[in-house]
Amino acid sequence: MKRILMALVCAAMMMPMNAKTLVAYFSATGTTKAAAERLAKQHDARLWEIEPAEKYTAADLDWRNPNSRSSLEMNDPEERPMIKQCTDVTPYDTVYVGFPIWWGICPRIINSWLDNNLLQLEGKMMIPFATSGSSGIGEAEAYLKKTYPTLNWQKGLLLNKRQ
Ligand SMILES: Cc1cc2nc3c(=O)[nH]c(=O)nc-3n(C[C@H](O)[C@H](O)[C@H](O)COP(=O)(O)O)c2cc1C
Repeated sequence: MKRILMALVCAAMMMPMNAKTLVAYFSATGTTKAAAERLAKQHDARLWEIEPAEKYTAADLDWRNPNSRSSLEMNDPEERPMIKQCTDVTPYDTVYVGFPIWWGICPRIINSWLDNNLLQLEGKMMIPFATSGSSGIGEAEAYLKKTYPTLNWQKGLLLNKRQ
């Protein structure tokens, strides 16, 4: 019994430091999901999908239609789409937040997630990452810093290529 306990304590002590890393992401069509999975593997991190209460359909994602759900949401800075499930962010000290670039910035569901977890995220290292058609992550980074100035934002990662 004593030996088993010792083995468990040793195993816990040998756990990598980055076991306290969370990779939370939203992905509408799977590209950011694949990037998040790679990132979580690289950092031995916990993976968490930020899922909308109501999934986005192809029609919802039509950016050419000014009345599509995504267009209506992106046109309203106060829009906060409902999330399916809460996240417990307390065990982590580094949090990667991933999303597809929509209209140059993050989809409003990322605001929903950040708003829901704001106090618990303060003091943690926050690293945005994104995938896009062609845009960079700079505008999204600036937007997040401006909208959530109490969070400790680090340089963002654009993960369009497999890396
Ligand atoms: C509503 C909407 C708006 C988008 N806006 C941009 C944009 O401003 N710049 C860009 O490069 N790509 C834009 N895209 C393309 C996505 O960022 C890109 O396809 C992304 O990799 C999709 O990730 P996902 O599969 O995880 O949803 C947009 C896509 C959608 C659906």
